[in-house]
Amino acid sequence: MNGIMDISAVRNDFPILRKTEGVYLDSACQSLRPDSVIKAISEYYEDFPSCGGRSVYGMSAKVSLVTDETREKAAEFFGTDDPDCYIFTKNCTEGINTVARGIKFRKGEAVVTTDTEHNSNHVPWIVLSEGSGVKRRYSRSDDDGEFNIENFKEVMGKDVRLVSLHHASNVTGCVVPIRDIAEIAHDAGAEVLVDGSQAAPHMKIDLEKADVDYYSLSAHKMLGPSGMGLLYGKKECLNSLRPLTAGGGAVGLASYDKADLAPVPDRFEAGLQNYSGIAGTKAALEYLEKVGMDDIYDHGRRLMRSIFKRTEGIEGLSAVGPKDPDRRCAAFSFNIEGLSPHDIAMMLDKMDNIMIRSGMHCAHPFFSSRGIEGSARASVYLYNNEKDIERFATALGKAAEAFGNR
Ligand SMILES: Cc1ncc(COP(=O)(O)O)c(C=O)c1O
Repeated sequence: MNGIMDISAVRNDFPILRKTEGVYLDSACQSLRPDSVIKAISEYYEDFPSCGGRSVYGMSAKVSLVTDETREKAAEFFGTDDPDCYIFTKNCTEGINTVARGIKFRKGEAVVTTDTEHNSNHVPWIVLSEGSGVKRRYSRSDDDGEFNIENFKEVMGKDVRLVSLHHASNVTGCVVPIRDIAEIAHDAGAEVLVDGSQAAPHMKIDLEKADVDYYSLSAHKMLGPSGMGLLYGKKECLNSLRPLTAGGGAVGLASYDKADLAPVPDRFEAGLQNYSGIAGTKAALEYLEKVGMDDIYDHGRRLMRSIFKRTEGIEGLSAVGPKDPDRRCAAFSFNIEGLSPHDIAMMLDKMDNIMIRSGMHCAHPFFSSRGIEGSARASVYLYNNEKDIERFATALGKAAEAFGNR
């Protein structure tokens, strides 16, 4: 599609939206899935429910074919040439851990993150540093969560082995300039891992141009099946990374004493894989491609602006993160004076079947460093429309008026 998206047509592709009057505003956690993804998942179970890469019969060859096609689709979708640079994971967290455990860090080397990371890109580095002598430093963001490149430059140094940061925050929606980060990091001799779980669903990403060394993402936040992720790595990086798991399918030949690792990417995919998830991931990328990532991005901008506009008069409401909707990817975190985030989420659910998230969104360091106990969060995606935002803002206004501290 080009220009303004046909939201009604998009909505009609999602079975849950055909069935319910509810308003789903929790896509930053997990997106809904269109018919084509569900069909691809069930086709695997109905038509070729076997393993890939091992057996020679036709049904198994079909699994291998779909697996190869999914990698090819991913390479094309993210602007890269080599499908073998994509590893199937169960989520973004697993991709990050694959890198954290896979790099052969030396004592005294440092990992740089930011103070607004999701725990999935925070806890693996705490675990790594325990007892290994690997140092951790973080780049302090502005008070509203915006990435601060000057602070980032200050924490960089020749001891930095890896910079690992999110592309977009799941709390503030702020987007980090990963191309600039890669340049600075590479100049210092460091590699870059990007947690792309909140950006990949919403914007066109060209990994070749971004020049980052690793990019981990959640397929389930971009219309893909639950429990599916992708880890991209430059070939030379993947070649020197130690696999997180070892076992069948990930080796060339094994003797009693020794095993030769299979080439990349197989060495990272030990054991049988989530084949229906892989098939569904291909369908998800095809769907997003058909709608168009640029249109999806513009749609997100329109919805964010609308949220800000429609909620600006609500007494006691304060946004967590930048006040400018154009500086937020697709997440609107907020608090209402006198109401806890969980109260807000429960009220919206009961009042008008509106589904939002509440709590600390697994971004504990962000909240604790700013003395905020948590927030409610509405996040949007390509299937949300103006009516959703209107219902959200109306219910929020009523909740604030009835129960807030005005
Ligand atoms: C910024 C960010 N990073 C990482 C994750 C973890 O993703 P996954 O559940 O796919 O491991 C999330 C999930 O919400 C996230 O928002």
